[in-house]
Amino acid sequence: QNARESLYVVSQFAANYFEKQLWESEDGRAIGLSYFKERGFREDIIRKFNLGYSPDVWDALTLEAVNQQHVETFLEKTGLSIRNDKGKLYDRFRGRVMFPIHNFTGRIIGFGGRTLKTDKNVPKYVNSPESDIYHKSNVLYGLYHAKKATRDLDNCYLVEGYADVLSVHQAGVENVVASSGTSLTIEQIKLISRFTQNITILYDGDAAGVKASLRGLDMILEEGLNVKVVSFPDGHDPDSYMHHVGASEFKHYIENNRQDFILYKANILLAEAGNDPIKRAEIIRDIVESIAKIPDNIKASVFIRECSHLLAIEERILLSELNTIKSAKQ
Ligand code: CTP
Ligand code: MN
Ligand code: MN
Ligand code: MN
Ligand code: MN
Repeated sequence: QNARESLYVVSQFAANYFEKQLWESEDGRAIGLSYFKERGFREDIIRKFNLGYSPDVWDALTLEAVNQQHVETFLEKTGLSIRNDKGKLYDRFRGRVMFPIHNFTGRIIGFGGRTLKTDKNVPKYVNSPESDIYHKSNVLYGLYHAKKATRDLDNCYLVEGYADVLSVHQAGVENVVASSGTSLTIEQIKLISRFTQNITILYDGDAAGVKASLRGLDMILEEGLNVKVVSFPDGHDPDSYMHHVGASEFKHYIENNRQDFILYKANILLAEAGNDPIKRAEIIRDIVESIAKIPDNIKASVFIRECSHLLAIEERILLSELNTIKSAKQ
């Protein structure tokens, strides 16, 4: 209990340190702050999410923490410092812009650090490791700042990354969270379900994003929540698209281009299948499999009807397929 508290304290210390570096140090301003500004992030958003900068020095944070009487063990346990072969501590995050991760009560539990280099050999993001206070599969980036709007608007937008959360927020849409650094988990869906039963997936418009949304929507259906999907053109992610079209058009776009999961899935799969009748039959089965995950039978029957209209298949055939899948699962 006490040890956990110490991990929170040292994480908060580090967040303050990185934030101070961003706004007050020469490098922080010239490198970190200009980077955020070049990406189009507004100052109020940068402050609201406590973004920061880690100096490009071997052990800047570690030295400052030890100076301020923080205990080495806790620096190591949060992963903020790493011990080398010679027993010396050095910083995990160096020369990166920093995204502190809050738990849903607002305490800092970890960090994501983005490189400023374009070198493909450098990992784009470095994240905090698992610790007694940070279990990444149980955390949603942005939830602390999203929970009120999520409850009020009775919907939660789910994005892939840190920058997506900031940009969607900046567009005035505050009910947005990211599963950043991990593929969506059941725990994360359950966390959202405390605030709303409606999730709208806004994943990247690349192949990986499409694959992840198909997987995510099945998981969400299985948890009994409602799911819609908005796709973005030309490989855009929500962040790049928001800056591409501007805040008001972005907001309009995501509000008016939600597809229910059947339509989304059908469009993707039909485009892949073309006119091949065997492939089309497989698609129908694939969609009915998603419907079979819905625990509520009445809801499922509504989607069967929609599917029947959309794919021009008799409802009774779809229902019999649904029953076959459901009885096979038992
Ligand atoms: N991610 C990660 N480690 C990586 C790459 C990605 O942890 N090496 C996580 C980050 O949380 C990232 C998310 O996965 O925000 C989505 O990845 P990606 O789409 O590649 O990055 P973006 O969020 O779009 O980052 P940016 O816009 O800053 O390039
Ligand atoms: Mn991505
Ligand atoms: Mn991507
Ligand atoms: Mn992305
Ligand atoms: Mn991006």
